[in-house]
Amino acid sequence: MSVIILAIESSCDDTSAAVFKDEVILSNCVANQDVHKAFGGVVPELASRAHQQNIIPVVDKAIKDAKIKKEDISAVAFTRGPGLMGSLLVGTSFAKAFALTNDLPLIDVNHLHAHVLAHFIKEHPEDLDQPKFPFLCLLVSGGNSQIVMVKNHLEMEIIGQTIDDAAGEAFDKCAKVMGLPYPGGPLIDKLAKEGDENAFTFSKPRIDNYDYSFSGLKTSFLYFLRDQIKVNPDFIENNKADICASLQKTIIDILMDKLIKAAKDTGINQIALAGGVSANSGLRNRLEELAIQHNWVTYIPKFAYTTDNAAMIAINGYYKYLKKDFVGQETAPFARLEF
Ligand code: KG4
Repeated sequence: MSVIILAIESSCDDTSAAVFKDEVILSNCVANQDVHKAFGGVVPELASRAHQQNIIPVVDKAIKDAKIKKEDISAVAFTRGPGLMGSLLVGTSFAKAFALTNDLPLIDVNHLHAHVLAHFIKEHPEDLDQPKFPFLCLLVSGGNSQIVMVKNHLEMEIIGQTIDDAAGEAFDKCAKVMGLPYPGGPLIDKLAKEGDENAFTFSKPRIDNYDYSFSGLKTSFLYFLRDQIKVNPDFIENNKADICASLQKTIIDILMDKLIKAAKDTGINQIALAGGVSANSGLRNRLEELAIQHNWVTYIPKFAYTTDNAAMIAINGYYKYLKKDFVGQETAPFARLEF
């Protein structure tokens, strides 16, 4: 018999609901929150208020778009963490109330596992282009930079991670220093396309194993711009594209050096990208070049499934449903939920 999962995601500033029938997506609705733009970053209190307003219409639309009836749903999956506490509370409370009133099992999902499992979302039952186990997944978002070894749908292990800032944070904070609006990552990507990536060089961290660090790059970038502006006040304006291209190249070099090392050491050639930063065109192109050089088979999810979305929560919920891995009404969200 088919399994129909209703999934809710509300960990940061996107309210999302999705409906899945087995591994196939029937609907995925996302309400973005423009309210944060004026503040240069996500304001937690405003995010939870917006989730509160959005959650019912978003779930309603997801169920309508999926053309199912509430009675067809087998279970409710929700993001338990990590994320912003106030935001997580809205999705968790809604999921619990929905499960209770409709007498459905409840499934808690780790947001980061879900980013990795976005590779298994099927738009059609015959979609088979999925990573084979074990594979390495570079998970890069606004809050995370990790290399994950994925053993099966429910067993995964971090083998390297950032010791300070995430790659997305490096994009966003450097963009802020340049006077670009939040989130700066997509803008740097756009400007970088017109620039020379070898125009400037920035320092790269020297760390053993597979860990990352981006705080040194952020500082060196800040000092570099400060020194240049002293000599030429219009330096940023006159060199925007070259600065963005050089910065983007440095971030990609840092990410890829460790990924190459991890692939060599583990002998794994199935390589996947996940998280918001995987939308970066430079990163995508570099992965394709490396695939040819190192004989990798690479996987990049569709853009809609790289940023925060409930479809990835639903696919994780589906695998947990098959194992009857349910939680009770006493379950609470956890902002710092461990991987
Ligand atoms: O996964 P995500 O949507 O949200 C969480 O962090 O949970 O990732 C958002 C991050 C932001 O830092 C944003 O600047 C970055 O992903 N990002 C990009 C691009 N698109 C989004 N960074 C670089 N290039 C992009 N095209």
